[in-house]
Parts: sequence; structure tokens; C-alpha cells
Amino acid sequence: MELEDRYFQHDVFMAEVAVRPAAVNDLPALEAADDLLIDGSERWSELQHLLMRGWGLLAEDLGDDPPSVIGYVAVVPRQFFGRDFITLLVVADTWRRRGVGTQLLNAATKQAATDVVFTSTNASNLKMRALLRREDWLISGTLDGLDDGDPEVVYFRRAQRRRA
Ligand SMILES: CC(C)(COP(=O)(O)OP(=O)(O)OC[C@H]1O[C@@H](n2cnc3c(N)ncnc32)[C@H](O)[C@@H]1OP(=O)(O)O)[C@@H](O)C(=O)NCCC(=O)NCCS
Repeated sequence: MELEDRYFQHDVFMAEVAVRPAAVNDLPALEAADDLLIDGSERWSELQHLLMRGWGLLAEDLGDDPPSVIGYVAVVPRQFFGRDFITLLVVADTWRRRGVGTQLLNAATKQAATDVVFTSTNASNLKMRALLRREDWLISGTLDGLDDGDPEVVYFRRAQRRRA
């Protein structure tokens, strides 16, 4: 498929997708986007903590009535050496490869309050690494000792904050 065709497809899909802040009462709806998000799990508690502080964003499919949640992300202020850190970027299986991850990542980057923003993923996560590469994120370094045999690759980029 030609590059222009792929961007055109993304534009068509994006007309139906909106990103907005996620509230703690959105948590049950986020389950639909993430098989690993189960009530009572560690991920559930982590996300609840993030949403209670207003640090989450979600993407929803406006083609559904009411709109259904198709992905989410969070930005934790000053978590990484005093810089904002983007964590938990997840897109529902059926919505992958349609630009939703890019839209969420870019919305999170714009929301960041520090000049430089960081994120990370396992070296084995080739999808996320391809997404970060395509969006011009740079590798800051790798961290060993977290997951055996699968280093954490840390990325950074300028925050592109929205002008007031
Ligand atoms: C990683 C993830 C968020 C990507 O979301 P997505 O909505 O599919 O991403 P996009 O459609 O915006 O893809 C943008 C680019 O990323 C790269 N990419 C995404 N998925 C890819 C795949 N399966 N194979 C190769 N490249 C891929 C491509 O360069 C793609 O651009 P293209 O479609 O024009 O080629 C999604 O796969 C996901 O939720 N994975 C599970 C959770 C996870 O691993 N999160 C990241 C770590 S916290």
C-alpha cells in the first residue's frame, strides 16, 4: 500500500475518534479496550490512581452511540528525573494500526508540562518501538534489571505544549 493511502485511511478513521480526559468513573468502560485491565488487578489499581489525579486520557469511537472507549494513556507529572512520563498506552485489538495509538501519544505529549517528556517500553515491544520511531522519539538509554532478558528502552522528545 502506498504511504499516501495509509495516511488517507488514518484520516478517515480519525474523523470518528476523539481524545478526551479520562475520569475515574470511566474506568469500567476502559476495560473494553484492554484485556489486561481486570477489576481487582494491579493494572486496575494503578490506572485508578492515575485517573483520580486527572492524569489519564482516553480515545473513544464517536461512531458508536454512546461512544465506546477504544484506547487510553496517562501522563505522570515529573515522574522521571523531574520530567513528565507517558505510561500505559493501550489501544483495543480491533482498533490497532489505524492511528489511534499515534493520536493518544501525541495528545499525551501535548499535555505534558515539562519541556522534555519521557516514556519507555520493553525492547521486545516492536510495535511500540515502531510507533515511537515513526513519531521521532529518540532513545535515551536502556534499563536492565526490570524484566529478565528484556531491557526497558527509555525514549524522550520535546513536549510540543499547546500555546495558551
Ligand atoms: C503499541 C500500540 C499502542 C500501537 O497502537 P496503534 O493504534 O496500533 O498504533 P498506530 O496505528 O498509531 O501505529 C502507528 C505506527 O506504529 C507502528 N506500528 C504500530 N503497530 C505496528 C505493528 N503491529 N507492526 C509494525 N509497526 C507497527 C507503525 O509504524 C505504525 O504506522 P503505520 O500504520 O502507518 O505503518 C498497540 O499495539 C497496543 O496497544 N499494544 C499493547 C499495549 C502496549 O504494548 N503499549 C505500549 C507500551 S506501554
